[in-house]
Amino acid sequence: MSITDAAFQKCINPDCAAQFDCAQALFKCPKCGELLDAQYNWEKINVPDKLSDLEKRWANRNNPLDFSGVWRFRELLNFCEDKYKVTIGEGQTILQQNDAVAKYADIKQGCLYLQYEGLNPSGSFKDNGMAAAFSHAKMLAMSSCACASTGNTSASVALYAHHCGLKCTVLIGSGRIAFGKLSQAMDYGAQTIQILGDFDDCMRQVQDVCNELGLYLLNSLNPFRLEGQKTIMYRIIEQLGWDVPDWIIVPGGNLGNSSAFGKAFYELKQLGLIKRIPRMAVINATGADTLTDLVNNKKLTWNNGKVNQKVIDDYYADLTARNFSPRTCASAIEISRPVNLKKCLRALDICNGVVRAVTDEEIVDAKAIIGKFGLGCEPASAATIAGLRNLRAEGIVTADQRVVCVLTGHPLKDPDVTVNYHKDKQCQFSNPPIEVPNDLDEIIKLIR
Ligand code: F0G
Repeated sequence: MSITDAAFQKCINPDCAAQFDCAQALFKCPKCGELLDAQYNWEKINVPDKLSDLEKRWANRNNPLDFSGVWRFRELLNFCEDKYKVTIGEGQTILQQNDAVAKYADIKQGCLYLQYEGLNPSGSFKDNGMAAAFSHAKMLAMSSCACASTGNTSASVALYAHHCGLKCTVLIGSGRIAFGKLSQAMDYGAQTIQILGDFDDCMRQVQDVCNELGLYLLNSLNPFRLEGQKTIMYRIIEQLGWDVPDWIIVPGGNLGNSSAFGKAFYELKQLGLIKRIPRMAVINATGADTLTDLVNNKKLTWNNGKVNQKVIDDYYADLTARNFSPRTCASAIEISRPVNLKKCLRALDICNGVVRAVTDEEIVDAKAIIGKFGLGCEPASAATIAGLRNLRAEGIVTADQRVVCVLTGHPLKDPDVTVNYHKDKQCQFSNPPIEVPNDLDEIIKLIR
């Protein structure tokens, strides 16, 4: 294996700041146990003078790396040589301006955009991260990998693993995963282990499993995965004619996306490739609102990397004492111990961010609106529009600001939530099927 000297791994704890080369699969700092970042020696990388210089790749789409929505930005995640880079055509996603959804969220016409990450090959944003992480795994010649998942990670890992020829094991909480996602993991050939527990239990177990068996871990603890997820922001900027929006709104689960987005904007600003950093709103579900509680009530902040660990420890000790397990219809974000909490705090600091929680009712209503007027999404993704609506009511977001909501997963991921909503006549925007006798006149009477 040859590694580039352009990239290295670095502990996010400023008191430690230990550095490691990229030839190791670490996932936590071996010195202090904190999260690791991928970092770059930018002077050794041929970074374009302006982002629009990358447009030349559009003309070269027959090269899979130039076609990939991840690798066409490869100078900004330059941790491995091209020969290791993995792509299955991820990142061909649409930024849609949507006035009908804007009206629902009380945003001025022309100002709301929906970023459809459900259009990725496995149907969620995870593919951006997996393209990068599996490239790292290939560079390290790994043969076996694992993840814990609320569903989408397992689907994406399974798809990339079978593409790359790695053995793949996924750990999911029994009864905690939407059927679309479970069907993908099985169909793509993953060994699927259902644990009698929730995602947080799976996350704990998978780290020990990977350590014990030397498996490559594909959860968002993996710093290279987050490098791939930075490209979602590059593509939004690209689709806005290389301009940044005023707000990015993203659902918060294990907090990998929000962490990656903050890092993306920080680096682009450092490199002089953008003039300003947008604000970010991270939206939890009320049944899984650790971040919201810690930030808004316990006043937890990044504090230049000196995060108050005691506040976090006390919070988790209380969850344990109460035997708390998160619950929301947005099963993708049903997480109460988000592994990227500290990186997310850093991102909130970088992006002058806010955090809110929305109810399941608000989520499913927003989802119905995105379905009726847009291309649809899974419940967790709709938390963005529900959150935006509340942020407008609070006056935090103004009606004429340009807002991008990241719709993280495809509507077919979780048909149960959709069908149950529309069959329930009590739901605000339900559209139930109507049963009729097998009779032409009766059918015509209904349609007329
Ligand atoms: N939206 C969807 C559709 C997801 O699947 C997830 C996370 C999130 C949002 C939250 O993203 O973790 O970056 O804050 N799903 C993970 C999984 C946990 O296992 O599929 P995050």
